[in-house]
Amino acid sequence: GSGGTGTAAAGGWTPVAPNVRDNLTVPDGFRSRTVMAWGDKVYADAPAFDPHAQTPESAARQFGYNSDYVGVLPINDAQALLVNNHEYTNEELMFPAGVYSPDEIKKIAIQSHGLSVVKLQRVGGPTSGEWRAADPDNRYNRRITGTTPFDLTGPAAGDARLRTTADPSGRRVLGTFNNCSGGTTPWGTVLAGEENFNQYFGASGAKDPRYATSYARYGITGTGDRGWKDVDPRFDLTAEPHEPFRFGWIVEVDPFDPTSTPRKHTMLGRFKHEGANIQIAPNGHAVAYMGDDERGDYLYKFVSADTFDPRDTQAAKLRNLQLLTRGTLYVARLTGDDPRALDAAGSFTPADGVFDGTGEWIPLTSDTTSYVEGWSVADVLIDTRLAADKVAPTRMDRPEDVQPNPVNGRIYASLTNNSKRGSTFAVDEANPLAASYVRDAIGAPLTKESGNRNGYVIELTEAGGDHAGTRFAWTLLLVCGDPESAETWFSGFPKDQVSPISCPDNLAFDSRGNLWIATDGNVLGSNDGLFRCPVDGPSRGRVEQFLTVPLGAETCGPLVTHDDRSVWVAVQHPGEATGSTFDSPASTWPHTHDFPRPGVVVTWKA
Ligand code: FEO
Ligand code: CA
Ligand code: CA
Ligand code: CA
Repeated sequence: GSGGTGTAAAGGWTPVAPNVRDNLTVPDGFRSRTVMAWGDKVYADAPAFDPHAQTPESAARQFGYNSDYVGVLPINDAQALLVNNHEYTNEELMFPAGVYSPDEIKKIAIQSHGLSVVKLQRVGGPTSGEWRAADPDNRYNRRITGTTPFDLTGPAAGDARLRTTADPSGRRVLGTFNNCSGGTTPWGTVLAGEENFNQYFGASGAKDPRYATSYARYGITGTGDRGWKDVDPRFDLTAEPHEPFRFGWIVEVDPFDPTSTPRKHTMLGRFKHEGANIQIAPNGHAVAYMGDDERGDYLYKFVSADTFDPRDTQAAKLRNLQLLTRGTLYVARLTGDDPRALDAAGSFTPADGVFDGTGEWIPLTSDTTSYVEGWSVADVLIDTRLAADKVAPTRMDRPEDVQPNPVNGRIYASLTNNSKRGSTFAVDEANPLAASYVRDAIGAPLTKESGNRNGYVIELTEAGGDHAGTRFAWTLLLVCGDPESAETWFSGFPKDQVSPISCPDNLAFDSRGNLWIATDGNVLGSNDGLFRCPVDGPSRGRVEQFLTVPLGAETCGPLVTHDDRSVWVAVQHPGEATGSTFDSPASTWPHTHDFPRPGVVVTWKA
């Protein structure tokens, strides 16, 4: 690592203990700052944040709600660009009672979704890990919202199912929603996944029977309670049956070109995309690893037809910007190496003591040839879940981030939890737990629940180190939970030396190849947090908690800068919990009385 010993990546700090504070908590010796929070100015002319004076116009010029993926792209040693997803809105936490009409709330919420690009300024010299937002009067700052135009690319662009009254071309979509996680590409762009897009659609009457199977597979029920159809008829399935086909994609934003039109890449398939992370294979092809976050859904990868051009030229960038428009989309099937044997609780017990095996990437379609019999290329890309169902992939426990380790080349995926494993979904060696242990509160007894409640982190090793290939080996790196629970597994690291961890979600790596794991939905009675976990050498599996987020929040984003000096997280939905007040003088998390503000935090060694 380039960061030396004075970094979080180097370890040596005392882990943060489980807690239920209304504050961010970092280890002794570290500092933190909220760099941007909901309502902060993205444009210089934006009004100051006032929860009592929100308008759609002001929201479109201020930092959005519920920060998720964090990308930090260097401009030079002292400046960088922050790219942040605003996944969704918590109206119950955003608006004072009696001030806004229901339609005003919907219009403000639409503008509070999307992404922000914010220029950053390092504070101190080049070895400082401290950053702040630069003056918003700069050429990069940008909001992308629920009404920003996007271009569709790839083989399904223009398909009849993507055409609407407002867009007869089927190639231009307004807005992006539920941008969850993402990734920063080697060519200087940011990818973001459109995840739970189904919730934005209602139905004023009948739904088009042609799409009943597709709608059902994606949870598009028309009963979304946001009521957006009342302010924009495109969210009414009865009026616009094709609008939901224009969401559920991977989007790509070029933050260095503030006038660029962001794009949605149909070649990477349509599902509840958590995010996408790029690895350049040894043969130069770009490989995108992706998860579909639903109970029992799949791991995917895309391999580009063209090769990455590493030159730092405009011509190379233009070439690289086309990499995600042509290639082959695959889905994963995992096979265990042990015979099926179950314990008294119904969990899989491996004869060799380890949850591991081999797998294959099953091709679904290229940009010219579908591999699913009877399905066109566009069919596979638009109804990717239904196409994948035909080839018997492995039904996983909610795949979240799927991320390549830049040091060892292996791939790591969070499988956050699945309460229905062992009931609706049969156990297998890769999804072994039919029961697991949770706590109601810190110090409360562990209690047994059905299913996989605390989640796993799985490690994939592509055969021959070829990310463009079709064979891999896999092993569960972590079976998460309280280390006092017998079912947990930390790759053999002594359990009395690890932090409890529950519900892994977003992942990152530092320059040493250590895995950083953010959690969402901790069921061990304490706040969510961020954890460091070496994956090679004698400390493999040594999970240590680096920070905790305020009560009720989930931890998103995480990012360790390339110099290891700054650890970034997003704090999503602070206050979304009984007992979180933020009115206590002890709480320093940004809030205006009843309105705690989601945002993006940097931490650094003091
Ligand atoms: Fe938005 Fe899968 O978390
Ligand atoms: Ca095994
Ligand atoms: Ca997530
Ligand atoms: Ca989540």
